[in-house]
Amino acid sequence: MTNPVIRPRRLRTSGALRRLASEIRVHPAELVLPMFVREGDDARPITSMPGVVQHSIDSARRAVVEAAEAGIGGIMLFGVPEVRDAIGTGATDPAGILNVATRALVDEIGDALVVQTDLCLDEFTDHGHCGVLAADGHVDNDATLERYRDMALAQATAGSALLGLSGMMDGQVAAVRETLDVNGFEDTAVLAYSAKYASAFYGPFREAVASTLVGDRRTYQLDPANRREGVREAQLDIDEGADIVMVKPAGGYLDVLAEVAAMSDIPVWAYQVSGEYAMIEAAAAQGWIDRRRAVEESVLSIRRAGADAVLTYWAVELATWLKEERA
Ligand code: PBG
Repeated sequence: MTNPVIRPRRLRTSGALRRLASEIRVHPAELVLPMFVREGDDARPITSMPGVVQHSIDSARRAVVEAAEAGIGGIMLFGVPEVRDAIGTGATDPAGILNVATRALVDEIGDALVVQTDLCLDEFTDHGHCGVLAADGHVDNDATLERYRDMALAQATAGSALLGLSGMMDGQVAAVRETLDVNGFEDTAVLAYSAKYASAFYGPFREAVASTLVGDRRTYQLDPANRREGVREAQLDIDEGADIVMVKPAGGYLDVLAEVAAMSDIPVWAYQVSGEYAMIEAAAAQGWIDRRRAVEESVLSIRRAGADAVLTYWAVELATWLKEERA
């Protein structure tokens, strides 16, 4: 018998065979674009995220039309308010920037894609934490849940179809679900950022939302060392009634993602965060990696690990490339 008998390379011999033998592929419909909307008339660039801006309402309207034309599945909205206070009043004010932007974009785009909103207080508090603070300065879990309930009502009223609970408070999914249900919003869905790690890769996001945070979020976000705990958080959110669970960041946490995908009976998403974006952009700008291939491979890897959909700042560009390839 000659060796090798078994030749896996056969299926790699031509482009046509490789395409047919490909185990997964990325489709525009499963991509979600995170978008920042600021108060004020002009859009502003975000230095640490080249190509990403803080939109005005007007430029956000144009961007959401472009996103729908590219065929992506949805957008995730973040508000950048002018004024912040201790309890994040802007988050629950119908005239607050996130709620105003939500109404405008739902009005603009209708059913062409899903308008989703970040449900967290950090963009709205003057201390920059994801919740309200107790007298001794620690983030008060249960007092924060009351704010999240009000925020959920404000966002659902503004027309958000899917609320992205990213604050990592215990019991947040159950609290928000209950409030939505007793107020007639039983069809508003909940995306739980279940396994959200206290990550250095959120660095550029802090610039994107002009965060005022001093210190870190380690008393509520997960320790990067913990895989089991991430899976447990996802299970708790499923039990509390989440419609979708998420792992975040994505690239460094593919093991957690694969494990959550293996156990979950609801959709599992992943968030390719600002620092993942910035790293590839920075290396590509130096000519050190092939930008397009690196972007495509990074999102493909997140899909391969088990994500049903991916939040990525490249959503529209990637969708455009995917369309070109099919044409
Ligand atoms: C919280 C929130 C954050 C991100 C998304 N939602 C910041 C944080 O938890 O520190 C980070 C997203 C990114 O880095 O792209 N509102």
